[in-house]
Amino acid sequence: MFGVREGTARSVVGPFMNDFRPSIRGSMGVIERYWKFLPVTNQTPVISLSEGSTPLISSRRLSVLAGRGRKVYLKYEGVNPTGSFKDRGMTMAVSKAVERGARLVICASTGNTSAAAAAYAARAGIRCAVLLPAGRIALGKLAQAFAYGAVVIGLEGDFDQCLRLVREFSNEPGTVVVNSINADRIEGQKTAAFEIVDELGDAPHLHILPVGNAGNITAYGKGCREYRSARLATRLPRMIGFQAAGAAPIYYDRVIPEPETAATAIRIGNPAGWKTAKAVLEESQGAVDIVSDEQIFSAQRWLAANEGVFVEPASAASVAGLMKFCSASSGADCPLAWVPEEGTIVCSLTGHGLKDIASVLNDRTRPVLARPNKAAILSVLERE
Ligand code: F0G
Repeated sequence: MFGVREGTARSVVGPFMNDFRPSIRGSMGVIERYWKFLPVTNQTPVISLSEGSTPLISSRRLSVLAGRGRKVYLKYEGVNPTGSFKDRGMTMAVSKAVERGARLVICASTGNTSAAAAAYAARAGIRCAVLLPAGRIALGKLAQAFAYGAVVIGLEGDFDQCLRLVREFSNEPGTVVVNSINADRIEGQKTAAFEIVDELGDAPHLHILPVGNAGNITAYGKGCREYRSARLATRLPRMIGFQAAGAAPIYYDRVIPEPETAATAIRIGNPAGWKTAKAVLEESQGAVDIVSDEQIFSAQRWLAANEGVFVEPASAASVAGLMKFCSASSGADCPLAWVPEEGTIVCSLTGHGLKDIASVLNDRTRPVLARPNKAAILSVLERE
């Protein structure tokens, strides 16, 4: 019943590229687009939802804020099929899992990984189980896991405990753990770095992204390194990871036993990718920094109201970080100083705002009530 559906898992790479195209040109997934850089063979069944190829949106206002002719771009990962960057890693992880004969994928998650795992497992025709910290998952993400048909298990504990438990399934026959401790996830996620370089013509001077379990920063680091080795980029970007101040183990260099932030996606006190992230930061001469929840929510509102880009709170940590650097209080050692005149800065926006609508709806976000006539509308417009 839970086997791979016939016809779903077929090879689309390498010599068999023309054998089966899941999508029309222009909407190929990341394996099809970047197979030369990925651990796939013509035996690999490609489980894809045409993820990746996300927009790199230029932000005039943030560019002005950064000053000296610098250009700021927003890599909007929220428009991936399940609404976050996790789809890039999950197409790889689930494809390889199916190749190895898996019948079940399992993960711990703060929400987005579970949504992606559930969707790709559904596509592959295999089972998916997700372990979530009960009551601490944005509702949109929880709805996704149910809709895609995963077995949803809520634990009385935080993400770190969920991950510890999931690790115990690593050697279970027919089961594959699809957290970013699975190397295939990192392979898929590095394609975001490729896309940025492909679009800009070189690596940006500065790349800012939110950090939770530290898989994504590890993946970006790997992607940048590989593109430079292939001479497709001349440099590595300086990488800055932002953690929420109440959940910042890498910044404080110690495990945070009870991490706290309203940006639930990055509420993690003991990231699995800690060591690899540190290596990436060292290699790229980057740094890890913190932003408060207030700064995160303010950046989230700013992005939606000024750029028309609606992201979930954790995603806004990158822009909150850039704003922090641009603020007058930043000193001479501010990473912005690393970016030359007319240099490029990329902020990753990792997940869509619709995932977590509770983060924007409150007592003040009620519609203004009006009678159904033009005069009433005009009077509201005058008042508001
Ligand atoms: N942004 C969003 C929207 C996320 O969901 C996550 C992680 C991150 C940033 C941080 O990425 O963990 O690779 O450093 N979400 C994971 C999850 C933990 O379970 O969905 P990271």
